[in-house]
Amino acid sequence: MKLRLKTKFTLTTSLLVLGVVALTSTLYVITLTHQVIRQAEDRAQQVAQKVFFQADRALADAVKEGAAPASESPADLREYVRQSLFQNVGLHTVIDAELGYGPLIYEVTIVDGNDTALVSSDARLLGQAVPLRIPLKQLAHSNFVDQLRIIYGPPRVYAVVLPFNLGKEPFGEIRIAAQTGLLRSEVSPGLRRAGWFALGAVLLSTLLAAVVSQASLAPLARISAQLDRISAGEFDLKPLESGDELGQVSTKITQIGHQLRGVREIFSTLRENLNQIMSGLEDGLLLFTPDGRAVMVSPAVEKFLGVPADALLGRPADEIFPAGHPLRQALRLEGNQFAPVAAAEVVLNGASGADPGASGSGRRVGLSVQVITEGGTRMGSLVTLRDLESLERISTQLQLSERLAALGRVTAGVAHEVKNPLNSMRLWLENLKNALPENQEIPQQAVKVLDTEIDRLDRVVKRFLDFTRPVELHLQEINVAELLAEVVGVARPQMDRARIEPVTQFPGDILTVNVDRELLKQALLNLVLNAIEAMPNGGRLTLTLARRGEMAEVSVADTGCGIAPEHRSRIFQLFFTTRPGGSGIGLASAFLIVQLHNGSIDFESEVGRGTTFRVGLPLAL
Ligand SMILES: Nc1ncnc2c1ncn2[C@@H]1O[C@H](COP(=O)(O)OP(=O)(O)O)[C@@H](O)[C@H]1O
Ligand SMILES: [Mg+2]
Repeated sequence: MKLRLKTKFTLTTSLLVLGVVALTSTLYVITLTHQVIRQAEDRAQQVAQKVFFQADRALADAVKEGAAPASESPADLREYVRQSLFQNVGLHTVIDAELGYGPLIYEVTIVDGNDTALVSSDARLLGQAVPLRIPLKQLAHSNFVDQLRIIYGPPRVYAVVLPFNLGKEPFGEIRIAAQTGLLRSEVSPGLRRAGWFALGAVLLSTLLAAVVSQASLAPLARISAQLDRISAGEFDLKPLESGDELGQVSTKITQIGHQLRGVREIFSTLRENLNQIMSGLEDGLLLFTPDGRAVMVSPAVEKFLGVPADALLGRPADEIFPAGHPLRQALRLEGNQFAPVAAAEVVLNGASGADPGASGSGRRVGLSVQVITEGGTRMGSLVTLRDLESLERISTQLQLSERLAALGRVTAGVAHEVKNPLNSMRLWLENLKNALPENQEIPQQAVKVLDTEIDRLDRVVKRFLDFTRPVELHLQEINVAELLAEVVGVARPQMDRARIEPVTQFPGDILTVNVDRELLKQALLNLVLNAIEAMPNGGRLTLTLARRGEMAEVSVADTGCGIAPEHRSRIFQLFFTTRPGGSGIGLASAFLIVQLHNGSIDFESEVGRGTTFRVGLPLAL
């Protein structure tokens, strides 16, 4: 059972008061009971004393009147005393008066040495043996509980006894009996008073405690409301204006609120940064708690495990990599515990649920596990997954673009150095042409050949210069599908001529990229023209557009001759061509253009079956 603080406070106060009141009431009742019994004893003693004096006087009166015992025998003496007492009116008056005075005295009897009643307030006892009563002193000396039990139990008779002598000789006793039932009526009002007092005190204290707790706990309710607001994200609070401890607590809560706001801001910035970093990662990262639950998963993990990162969060390692999982052995996972793995390589095939777009045979994945410890305590484990093939591809692309840049630097100079001599050669050739006699066959022929060769050289240098000239990009947002349709339109006559059937596969949603429209169109057209040239006897040209994460991917697939393995590393090089009349500029410039747009370009090819070029471009935000 949960009690409110106010109720607890009230209840405790009431109980405390009840305890104190019960204690004082008990003491009061004990004293009262003692007093009543003592009074009863005193009174019985007084009565006994009075009766004693009166009895004494009665005997003296009898002597005065000349009465005397018949003989010295004890029986006659006894009879004489009985007569003297019994006939004395004063004694009877005293006895009656004492009995009538108050309810306490129950019976007054004078007995002889054999306990036989000589005089008694109860006429039935006269001449009878009077039973011995328990002394009232015994009740006075018994403990409080026994006293109450006796007083409130069935009525009992107690007595005060005063020995009664005749001359020097003991003769009998005066017995004053008091009844317990009569004591009850003396104690009860006191008990009742104590009861009412206790009840009153408890009620009053409960009421007071309720009022006081209400008043003193009110600031607590406001502090609680303050905390509620902080947990709801309202950090700028004013503290309660009160100088006591609650006011201090409230001020501290306000300070905590301010600190919390700072912490939350730092935390959300951190989280944002972390998410940004994670989403930009090519590697799949999984961070596990010491008990093996995934607490951070980078989006790239989906490429390796085929499950979205969000779906993995909070799941135990044993569930993410169940027994039989292709990565499990390399991860050295025991239950939910990772062991450190410096570097391992695993081949994932399509069936493992990895990248659905992966090409059948499987891909190589690099894997490492770092166990994070701090001061000897295990803090967690970090699993890193890396696509080794795409790494290799990226490094070839990097090499290519570096080479391209170097080429650009070299050729720029060379081109200028070649262009000027070429111009002067052409001038001198013109002069030579005019100066040659009309009829000389061979020099005429030679000049013609020189002329065309100089032209060819000039064109090559021009292309060189074109290629290496720094380009200025005119970026605009374009719909990639539209641009592709345009490219197909431009290449349509060539396709018709070669009996090539174009197929387009565009997604339902619009993909836009921020690019230089003319340059990109040129690059895509180069790929399409190459594909057409690879299928002189007809075939199928498939243009596909798809979204891959944050990229738009265009693929140009043909069913042509394919690229021989020994040419694959060279096809992006400037002036590399295998075609008679080819320039070797198409792919080089496509590569350059894609690089300028922070894109990627690669290809897959199989001799005799066809080639697919893939261009990735960052989607416009
Ligand atoms: N779709 C393709 N199929 C087969 N080979 C291709 C394809 N695209 C390009 N190539 C090869 O790459 C070489 C370079 O192409 P490119 O730079 O466009 O120059 P060019 O078209 O002038 O030969 C081509 O000569 C050809 O061998
Ligand atoms: Mg070409």
